[in-house]
Amino acid sequence: MKIFKNKIDLIKYVDSLKSEKNTLGFVPTMGALHQGHASLIIKGLEQNDFVGVSVFVNPTQFDNKEDLIKYPRTLDNDVALLKTISEEKVIVYAPTVEDIYGENVVSTSFSYDGLEHEMEGRFRDGHFDGVGTIVKRLFEIVRPDKAYFGEKDFQQLMIIKKLVEKYNIPVTVIGCKIHREKDGLAMSSRNTRLKPAYRAAAPFIFKTLQTAKEKFATKSANKVTEWVNKQFANHDLLALEYFIIADIKTLKTVKRKSNKKSYRAFIAVYADDIRLIDNIALN
Ligand code: PAJ
Repeated sequence: MKIFKNKIDLIKYVDSLKSEKNTLGFVPTMGALHQGHASLIIKGLEQNDFVGVSVFVNPTQFDNKEDLIKYPRTLDNDVALLKTISEEKVIVYAPTVEDIYGENVVSTSFSYDGLEHEMEGRFRDGHFDGVGTIVKRLFEIVRPDKAYFGEKDFQQLMIIKKLVEKYNIPVTVIGCKIHREKDGLAMSSRNTRLKPAYRAAAPFIFKTLQTAKEKFATKSANKVTEWVNKQFANHDLLALEYFIIADIKTLKTVKRKSNKKSYRAFIAVYADDIRLIDNIALN
């Protein structure tokens, strides 16, 4: 398996693949890979000759220092998982912070036509500037034909689509379904940090989303939101940060439902000090 630690070697290798007319898919990750990541890579391999996977815990997208320090770094395990997918067709880029940022570990400021002010943007200061900075840089280094992002981070997916459109980046961005544990919990690198009691409680998040979806068929967004807030009000282990029903195009909270629009429910919950997010299509 080809594993690159610096961009110069990777760029050369991508040049050689391109000169032989190979198509290249790309899955950016922060590592601690699980089957959710794997599903993106497998989709990439179905649609391209090779798939690049970056493994890089991007410091500029963390608003919380503790979260950055505690973020799991498991490159050996990640490589082992990637080898089970394909030793030949998967290319790993696992750079150092210096290889990406040099001495200047800061993000550029981006406007995504307002998408950045909703939900995660509201609760995680500077997060989407950090995401835009790293993804744009990775696109410039890897130069993929197609890039794969999970609907698990639906707002991020929409923001990357906007970034590509605004900067005329020649990459097709493809959204991929949320991969879940058997009990419904959305797979996440952070799940491994959950203490057993919190892990046992966490499927409540998706169960609540499913019931919210049923209720939304007959009730207003406000009524459903009130109901969800009540479910968490007295919960012993899970603390609701936000539940929002939003228009999938603008990500703005829905005030009055329209049959012509598509909506999704978005949720962020603290299980102890671990922040979990999830979402569900409503119509
Ligand atoms: P990370 O959280 O590692 O996720 C990498 C990609 O995997 C993202 O596109 C994410 O949406 C997707 N993913 C994670 N869990 C998933 C699941 N359960 N089902 C489907 N897809 C899932 O998102 C990031 O890293 C970073 O912000 C990054 C884009 C790499 C920039 O640093």
